[in-house]
Amino acid sequence: MNYDQIISQKIQNIKPSGIRKFFDILEEMTDAISLGIGEPDFVTPWHIRDAGIYSLERGHTKYTSNAGMLELRREIANYLRRRFDLEYDYTNQILVTVGGSEAIDLAIRVLVNPGDEVIIPVPSFVCYGPLTEMAGGVPVYVELTAENGFRLTPEQLKAAITPRTKALVLPFPSNPTGGIMERRDLEAIAQVLKDNDIMVISDEIYAELTYGQRHVSPANLTQLYDRTVVVNGFSKSHAMTGWRMGYVCAPQPVIAAMTKLHQFGIMSAPTTSQYAAIEAMRSGDEDIAHMREEYDSRRRYLVENLNRIGLDCFEPKGAFYVFPCIRSSGLSSDEFCERFLREEKVAVIPGTAFGPGGEGYVRACYASSMRDLTESISRLDNFLQNLRRKQGQDG
Ligand SMILES: Cc1ncc(COP(=O)(O)O)c(C=O)c1O
Repeated sequence: MNYDQIISQKIQNIKPSGIRKFFDILEEMTDAISLGIGEPDFVTPWHIRDAGIYSLERGHTKYTSNAGMLELRREIANYLRRRFDLEYDYTNQILVTVGGSEAIDLAIRVLVNPGDEVIIPVPSFVCYGPLTEMAGGVPVYVELTAENGFRLTPEQLKAAITPRTKALVLPFPSNPTGGIMERRDLEAIAQVLKDNDIMVISDEIYAELTYGQRHVSPANLTQLYDRTVVVNGFSKSHAMTGWRMGYVCAPQPVIAAMTKLHQFGIMSAPTTSQYAAIEAMRSGDEDIAHMREEYDSRRRYLVENLNRIGLDCFEPKGAFYVFPCIRSSGLSSDEFCERFLREEKVAVIPGTAFGPGGEGYVRACYASSMRDLTESISRLDNFLQNLRRKQGQDG
């Protein structure tokens, strides 16, 4: 069999994720520290796990309704109102998905016709471009800069729009930069969008993890509500990555289209996880606050110490990543990560894995223990000093 001819050309054209290579090297090492994976180091809070277990004990092992249990959707609507002032009708504007990942895939597939363009600010989470390509669309990357706080400016958006533009992804708070969009930033975006039908796919998976200010969704702006698809989930906010629970909220016709696709591809999100998610929505606010506080102190520690040892680091305002500039090392992002891992046994991810505009940066996840973070800083200091010494000898 010639599988190169058998496997779809579209998937063959897609580059594998740049993150994988480092995990392959990491696997060979025993005492390495990984700041590579973007997932909470906390275990799901006990009362949430218990709700999942109890549902199994009661024998709730069947499919649920395609859109997700009504009770869960009601709790999601209550939560969104309570936490973010967002108003969605739980009977027809919310779909429960397999992680935020499925929600992003569905949103792109129901909106994009072949040849449609999707504007994607980068550096950002790795899936938007490949999923756009799989839907037959064309990703249009817009490079964000540290000077602008890794925000999307109205000028950048205006320059990227063409008659083929179908959707704009707003990936804030951002993985990997930690950048956010404040209300006035979104108002400027709304102004640019007002005379056309471009949809907004707002990936708000880190909405609970902002430091110093409350998250604002584009759907909070009346001008944007009707064109916004809000993606969210439980992975980051409630430390529930393995439960694969997410949801998406949008105008009713968009949710109906997404539900159709979800029904054929998935049937319904995992039932045990839905029971756990009900508990998370009802009684999880204090857990979130506790985890946020922890992340915040680690964030402040890292920013301060990265700058101290000579790497310029933008102060992230959300999510749980730092994105320091490594240009002063004289290495490319890839070289930096590979050498740092081989020489000091700490894994961080090259900025280039997150799209154009990531060269010169690396991403480190601070959802790791303070012990690992302090040890990583000390190894990084060592690494940079050795580099400077060698560069001094060569020069
Ligand atoms: C920005 C962003 N969106 C979505 C996801 C997907 O999360 P999940 O599918 O676990 O909900 C991630 C995971 O890292 C992410 O960083």
